[in-house]
Amino acid sequence: MKPSIIELGYLGFEVSDLPRWERFAADVLGTGVSPGPQGTRWLRLDDAPARIILSHGSADDCVFTGWKVATVADVDAFAAHLQTQGLTSRYGRDDELAVRHAARMLHFQDPEGNRHEVYAAAAASPGAFKSAIVASGFVTGPGGAGHVVFEAGNYPATIDFATRVLGLKISDHVYLDVGPGIKIEVSFFHTNERHHSMAVAPRAPVPGPKKNIHHFMIEAGSMADLGRARDRCLRFGQPVVMDIGQHPNDHMISFYAHTPSGFLVEFGWGGVKVDDANWKVDAYDRISNWGHRPFGEMPGAAPAMPQPTVEAI
Ligand SMILES: [Fe+2]
Repeated sequence: MKPSIIELGYLGFEVSDLPRWERFAADVLGTGVSPGPQGTRWLRLDDAPARIILSHGSADDCVFTGWKVATVADVDAFAAHLQTQGLTSRYGRDDELAVRHAARMLHFQDPEGNRHEVYAAAAASPGAFKSAIVASGFVTGPGGAGHVVFEAGNYPATIDFATRVLGLKISDHVYLDVGPGIKIEVSFFHTNERHHSMAVAPRAPVPGPKKNIHHFMIEAGSMADLGRARDRCLRFGQPVVMDIGQHPNDHMISFYAHTPSGFLVEFGWGGVKVDDANWKVDAYDRISNWGHRPFGEMPGAAPAMPQPTVEAI
């Protein structure tokens, strides 16, 4: 029997503009930023040493997703489970363990080639963390770091991977109209009280740079801190892509902004907690109850006045 994943413990991002990411994390998101081994930067949300691990490189994408299990023996048991599923896995090297502050780590790929890691944390902890600008702190605890959303070319295979291989539970589904007679399904998965630690959407058939990650989410402890983060984002000059709104399934009130790597961060507050004893898997026909509109758009407003051309000025 495979051991249960406790939480989404960390995410690894390879970023091309490390200095801007450091400023974005510290001055906009309000995470801790400290140097990690081998030129990495550790972003902290709580007492865990690194919830997001930044390394310098050209990918500008999520390069690993860390799923925490309780013990090193559980990592070994997960390796045996992967073997029964016909998946190849490898143990992390010492230098990889150091970067993640892990005692043991196993890595393997999902059908899209995303690297997933199952790990047991190293014992020593660097001590308490309190954000300098997010006064209410970040909501982690039993819910883990937050959530990550991937786009999948082979959507059914990735759903199968999430449930059968990782052992995540389906929270619910959202069905979206994306064209005349065309609906897509987005699926949400939990492994603890957080409504979803991971979600998967079919890859949008639009040209553009392929990124595996669509967005990641971190959650503040108060709505005031959500509003302040939005203000800081605008002042910093990092575009807010979807303004404040609320999702129907996890009840999260949030806004979405571009990170310096191009993929999105969702900054949220007020997510619902899942209790498996009475949770009912539901289906929704919309992604937002209200809001989450493009920045600056007024729903139902008259079309904007034409802007004067440069020649007219
Ligand atoms: Fe999200």
